[in-house]
Amino acid sequence: MSDSATREFASGAGSDSDQRQRRKLVVLSGIQPSGKLHLGNYFGAVKQYLELIEQGHDCYFFLANYHALTSVRNREELLELTRQAALDYVALGLDPQRCNIYRQSDLPEVCELQWILTTITPMGLLERCHAYKDKVAQGLPADHGLFAYPVLQAADILIVSANLVPVGKDQKQHIEVTRDIAQRFNRLFGPVLTVPEPYIREETAVVPGTDGRKMSKSYGNTIDLFAPEKVVRKQIFGIVTDSATVEEPKDPDRSTLYALLKLFCTPEEAQEWAERFRRGGLGYGEVKKVLFEKFMEELGPARRRRAELEKDPGVVEEALRRGAERARQVGVPLVQRVRDAVGIPNPVW
Ligand code: ADP
Ligand code: TRP
Repeated sequence: MSDSATREFASGAGSDSDQRQRRKLVVLSGIQPSGKLHLGNYFGAVKQYLELIEQGHDCYFFLANYHALTSVRNREELLELTRQAALDYVALGLDPQRCNIYRQSDLPEVCELQWILTTITPMGLLERCHAYKDKVAQGLPADHGLFAYPVLQAADILIVSANLVPVGKDQKQHIEVTRDIAQRFNRLFGPVLTVPEPYIREETAVVPGTDGRKMSKSYGNTIDLFAPEKVVRKQIFGIVTDSATVEEPKDPDRSTLYALLKLFCTPEEAQEWAERFRRGGLGYGEVKKVLFEKFMEELGPARRRRAELEKDPGVVEEALRRGAERARQVGVPLVQRVRDAVGIPNPVW
């Protein structure tokens, strides 16, 4: 694992990476099932999930369907996207034998925890958050769900007492909000909540989309992991480039195409491609073809696994059931401790 991950972890001898490998941590992360999984999710999040599973940590990866309600307003669509995202998770290698995958809504106590946390969350903290601020800046109507979104995210993390949260850079602020809320809670009511650390890999912190902005479902600039081959090809060949001719030298550091290609390359290979860009005589079409091939090579096994899983959805349903059971085993008692700390009796039934 790279030591350039931008995060601090408990001090002591050895690198961050050594420490993570020695100590068993609780790891949690989630993805909203609000669209199809894309390369940004893969390199920015899922690959880190896989590394952390490999290191033997206690891992929770969930589908944030309550969060997705802030953007998906169609019952069938939300149900279907959630089902699809679960298949994606398992196909990508989130092995239900080695980590817990579950739907957020199978642990509804998270909403209760959210409420308790909102009562100690300063308005200013949420007013500074990007997702809400961006929407307001664009003149779009922002609802309370979007405003309170980071508090639900905090509840997701705190309910399993996570130590480490692997995410892309765009989520760094939300993890900071979580830390603030947890520290405030502990000051007010005693040491009940674990203060988590973000885990962000510098090299893949922001994966660019086909138009050069951050790749995101909401920008329509994605390369989708499980789209039919024809669609993937179209997305890759649609990557925006400048109008340089084949002969002209090109600056790799200003090229979205190079940035995407680099994700699939070893450092030596990336170096060679950078030199070929600078030397001239390289056409963008040729690079796109290579990128397409590399994509298929990297994602091929997961795409085949997914096609198999699709035929037998019971496997994934069973995985979600077991994941929820385990999440409930730790989450429900945590909420009980929180109730107890603040002075809310456990329900009488
Ligand atoms: P989107 O922005 O497409 O809605 P999500 O918000 O569901 O994606 O993101 C799920 C995870 O994937 C988060 O950890 C997020 O940081 C990461 N992620 C999403 N897009 C990117 C990107 N372009 N680069 C790096 N990480 C990303
Ligand atoms: N907000 C995250 C995103 O859009 C998804 C998410 C919800 C999440 N709850 C979480 C990520 C808890 C990490 C931990 O990407």
